[in-house]
Amino acid sequence: MSFFYLSNRIIFCFSTMTKLIVVTFLLFHTSTSSSPSSLGSAAMLEPLFQYIDDHQNQFIQRLKEWVAVNSDSGDPTKWGEVERMLKMTADMIEKMGGTVELADVGTHQLPSGETMQLPPVILAEFARDPKKATLCIYGHVDVQPAKMEDGWVTDPFILTEIKGNMFGRGATDNKGPVLAWLHAIESYQATQKEIPVNIKLIIEGMEEMGSFGLLELTRKRNDSFFADVNFIVISDNVWATLNPALTYGTRGSSYFSVEVDGPKLDLHSGVYGGSIHEPMTDLITLLGSLVNHKGKILVTGVTDNVTVLTEDERKTYDKINFDLEEMKNVVGVKKFIQDTKEDVLMARWRYPSLSIHGIQGAFSDPGTKTVIPRKVTGKFSIRQVPNMDPTDVERKVKEHLGQVFSTLNSPNRLKVTATVGAKPWMANLGDPQYVAGKRAVKNVFGVEPELIREGSTIPIAQNFQEETGKSVMMLPIGGHDDGEHSQNEKISRNNYIKGTKLFAAYFYELSLLH
Ligand SMILES: *[C@@H]1O[C@H](CO)[C@@H](O)[C@H](O)[C@H]1NC(C)=O
Ligand SMILES: *[C@@H]1O[C@H](CO)[C@@H](O)[C@H](O)[C@H]1NC(C)=O
Ligand SMILES: [Zn+2]
Repeated sequence: MSFFYLSNRIIFCFSTMTKLIVVTFLLFHTSTSSSPSSLGSAAMLEPLFQYIDDHQNQFIQRLKEWVAVNSDSGDPTKWGEVERMLKMTADMIEKMGGTVELADVGTHQLPSGETMQLPPVILAEFARDPKKATLCIYGHVDVQPAKMEDGWVTDPFILTEIKGNMFGRGATDNKGPVLAWLHAIESYQATQKEIPVNIKLIIEGMEEMGSFGLLELTRKRNDSFFADVNFIVISDNVWATLNPALTYGTRGSSYFSVEVDGPKLDLHSGVYGGSIHEPMTDLITLLGSLVNHKGKILVTGVTDNVTVLTEDERKTYDKINFDLEEMKNVVGVKKFIQDTKEDVLMARWRYPSLSIHGIQGAFSDPGTKTVIPRKVTGKFSIRQVPNMDPTDVERKVKEHLGQVFSTLNSPNRLKVTATVGAKPWMANLGDPQYVAGKRAVKNVFGVEPELIREGSTIPIAQNFQEETGKSVMMLPIGGHDDGEHSQNEKISRNNYIKGTKLFAAYFYELSLLH
């Protein structure tokens, strides 16, 4: 008891002293300062940061309670837990004075044919002031599956801190960041400061399954919930390197199946080999015509719309602290297709790519079966970048495959099908959100954020931007090695707590620009 009492007193004294120093500093330097807003930020934000530091163990305890709920949306038998998780979230928001609607997003038909009610989506808001900008925060509280036997070192549903890292399913994707937003709001309330922006929250429990019902809900509420929203912010990805980052683009993706259907049954290669147009040989020729060993997409016209790299854009890559050698070790390769860090990152983020994933129907067991498979289906996908039109890409790919196939004079039947996944997304870096995000990062971490894109596809940003017409930013707080979706997912104490400060600072910086 006395120890805690003493240490609290020390913290109290320390915080008071820090305030005094800040205030003195302000009084002394205001006239000479070249950057009044950053000094204003320091005075304004210091008590919030102090509150966040003082309450970090409490914030971690809450994360522990959230991680303990196995809200695995991929398993319909766990949807009850997803709903419980959403209720816990809603309760917390209501206790903080927010109003919550649990929006019904209808039903979903399982592969078994059974129809199930989807968990609701939380639409929440805190008191609204028409003079302030309105920020809408998106997050999700469902998780990927996790089992001890998959190779977790600690129980995935018991948040466990080891050497500054807190391991547990959902710690970084996305329960930690959702709580960090709520704690950032709490830091204003508890220190009796007015939250400088109006806040809305949209929190779902089906993200890991593809956000069932969210797009329809966004459309339905465009003229109500979203009408007065100015900015939408998403913290559901991680930094690309050791440095804090702002994410301004994601690649889209389309998935293709190429079926080559031949003889009416599998054949013996000793008996028929040499006389048959083998479906597998046709398919290999088709797949081999799509992309070369340098990663260049060979389908005519598909990459015509990719924007030309400007000098300014190139410069954003120079600043990224990315260690090519370390990345080679991480993936276990001696070299990448490109030689420099900038070119490797651009290949992953700003250029399209085509990957061949598999062949269904091919012999793939150990041993030496001498079969000629009667029907095989190749699978590949194209990661797309802005200005590429997925429908036109699909048409061009189909034309290309049809044309190559016709040169084979094969009696086999070709069928190409495509599933357009998500469209690519890119934000405008001059948007006030990005300016505010940069200032908030500088304020909390003392460095400029890296401006990064995601090579993978996150439909949510594009969907929000396209459906609502609002500015969207991704503001990650997780570390590059957090292992979302993997075994031993974690978030560090440092990222979680500094991330909370970042969000608190972000509200403030955004309000200055509005
Ligand atoms: C390229 O952009 C034009 C103009 O928007 C569009 O009509 C065309 O379909 C696009 N092509 C591809 C392959 O993306
Ligand atoms: C949604 O509403 C905004 C105005 O808030 C409007 O600009 C936008 O076009 C609407 N979206 C659609 C798809 O109609
Ligand atoms: Zn996520």
